[in-house]
Amino acid sequence: MRVRLEGGIHVLREPMLLLARSEQVKKLVSSMPVSAGIVKSYVPGETTAAAIDAAAMLAGQGLHVTLDHLGEDVVEVEQAATNVSAYLDLLDGLATRNLARRVEVSVKLSAVGQALGGPDPDHGERIALKNARTICMAARNAGTTVTLDMEDHTTTDSTLAILHELRKDYPETGAVLQSYLHRTEADCRALAHEGSRIRLCKGAYAEPPDVAFQPKVDVDRSFVRCLKALLGGQGYPMIATHDPRLVEIASSLASRYGREQGSYEFQMLYGVRPEEQRRLVESGETVRVYVPYGREWYGYLMRRLAERPQNLSFFLKSLISKK
Ligand code: FDA
Repeated sequence: MRVRLEGGIHVLREPMLLLARSEQVKKLVSSMPVSAGIVKSYVPGETTAAAIDAAAMLAGQGLHVTLDHLGEDVVEVEQAATNVSAYLDLLDGLATRNLARRVEVSVKLSAVGQALGGPDPDHGERIALKNARTICMAARNAGTTVTLDMEDHTTTDSTLAILHELRKDYPETGAVLQSYLHRTEADCRALAHEGSRIRLCKGAYAEPPDVAFQPKVDVDRSFVRCLKALLGGQGYPMIATHDPRLVEIASSLASRYGREQGSYEFQMLYGVRPEEQRRLVESGETVRVYVPYGREWYGYLMRRLAERPQNLSFFLKSLISKK
């Protein structure tokens, strides 16, 4: 397979994301153990204990953490309830290990019911809101916060509506906005108010041109416009990118808008540019590492491979040797 780079954009991204939807591919890839090289490099383990150990290790290096219990697109109400229990166990463990000051949780609403069908179109949304509320309350009791991940564009309105409801009782709840969507600059302005924790990322799903910028350069330009809206506003921006150019632009915009270090943070994924994570911490920045864990790592791994096809040969080797 030929990997061609066009203006920095990986042309394999979309086909990879489409291939990832095949049940056969999923079955084959999911047969790898979590200890397989490529999986282990992005996911520290499948259990709550493994997640907490990874968080403790990162916290010991001066990093902050957000833990994500993997398991998206749940279509059964029982599975949504199981995912909620996993978060409650996790939050309990964080409080017990005294980690809640540095470690929060990220939640995908489709893992707690948003995608459930039912008697009326709002059924899934109502279940997700109820479940998210339970997790927010447990996080508050443990002394930490929740950030709602953002999934594909068909869920954006529903996720922001749930955020709005949650923030009535839990104003500390964070959300994610994706610079590849045309709508996001306006969403950033609307959500740049005091106390509002917003993670800005480029976006990881295959989106159509009527809703999303396609060329990488346009996604990056939008990222900078969104950064200006967030850093120039009153909220708490969480700048989630590994892109060296955007990290540099974010740092200089932060000084231009008179932002003190600690009034915003950088975020990166577990296993991606760890030396840059440490460099930023040493320069006084707050850096949070997103750490996914659990058995349902397939969708997450495929999105990481789609944005980094250089990892394909590593991936194929892991698949063949299954270790
Ligand atoms: P880009 O993909 O252009 O990469 C820039 C550079 O970073 C690359 O040249 C390479 O050096 C390095 N790099 C990037 N990805 C790598 C990888 N997988 N392995 C190794 N090196 C890599 N998306 C979403 O849709 N909803 C969400 O809720 C979130 N949440 C989220 C949280 C956090 C903390 C992060 C960092 C990211 C997300 N994302 C996300 C994913 C995000 O949308 C995006 O897909 C990835 O961060 C990759 O985009 P970059 O900004 O890093 O740039």
